[in-house]
Amino acid sequence: MAILGIDIGGSGIKGALVNAETGELLTDRFRTDTPQPSTPTAVAEVIGQVVRHFEWKGIVGCTFPAIIRNGVVFSAANVDKSWIGTNAKKLFEAKTGCNVTIVNDADAAGIAEMVFGAGRDVPGVVIMLTLGTGIGSALFVDGHLAPNTELGHLEMNGGDAEQQAAESARKREDLSWKEWGKRLNQYFSMVDFLLSPDLFIVGGGVSKKHEKFFKYIETRAPLVPAKMRNHAGIIGGAMAAHALTHEVGEMDFDTQKIMEFHMEKTADN
Ligand code: BGC
Repeated sequence: MAILGIDIGGSGIKGALVNAETGELLTDRFRTDTPQPSTPTAVAEVIGQVVRHFEWKGIVGCTFPAIIRNGVVFSAANVDKSWIGTNAKKLFEAKTGCNVTIVNDADAAGIAEMVFGAGRDVPGVVIMLTLGTGIGSALFVDGHLAPNTELGHLEMNGGDAEQQAAESARKREDLSWKEWGKRLNQYFSMVDFLLSPDLFIVGGGVSKKHEKFFKYIETRAPLVPAKMRNHAGIIGGAMAAHALTHEVGEMDFDTQKIMEFHMEKTADN
């Protein structure tokens, strides 16, 4: 089934049609900059543009870089503060006339990686961390997602970890790979110590350059780059929408159920 996946980030908004059963992109990506200021009205306008670009009338699966519960935004680290308390689902549905599902961006990327990518069939505790404008996190225990973990906002050196260790900090402060790698090492070591994962999956656009910085990160848990790289958000957003609007209950992000759901669908076809 085709679903329009839209990944809303602090810097860019990307959309593509996705085959939600196989995780494949069916079209090229359409990308625009996130409007600044990134108010609900301005972002909704862009979502409308993306939907019109694909002449889409079906289901839309959106990701958003904040805590999301039942379509409502509960935080705003890298988007305009006026998002807090906004029902993004209702806003985007009113703008597009489509049925819209919305989940946290890192949770969506994690779902895609657990079902089709680097976390496939990995038992135990898997943590996906996305390095971009902020640091996003998705925590899985035996394939079950604990949504909205927000590990990017752990305290580090008396401040917010993502301010020091996100990919945006590397660019903003013009850090060498080694300097950034040391900060990442401090951050990943803290998460490793606190949660003892069996695997770290590292996502975000910069994960394609993983040879440049993985060597500085010394964690007990192995570190692997995301397989879907920058497409994981679009694909995961579409997958979550597919499952949530069908048999899998609202707000149930159990990836095993989502995986079973996708496998049954594939077998049917
Ligand atoms: C937000 C998270 C988001 C992450 C990556 C953080 O600043 O608080 O909700 O997942 O950035 O976009």
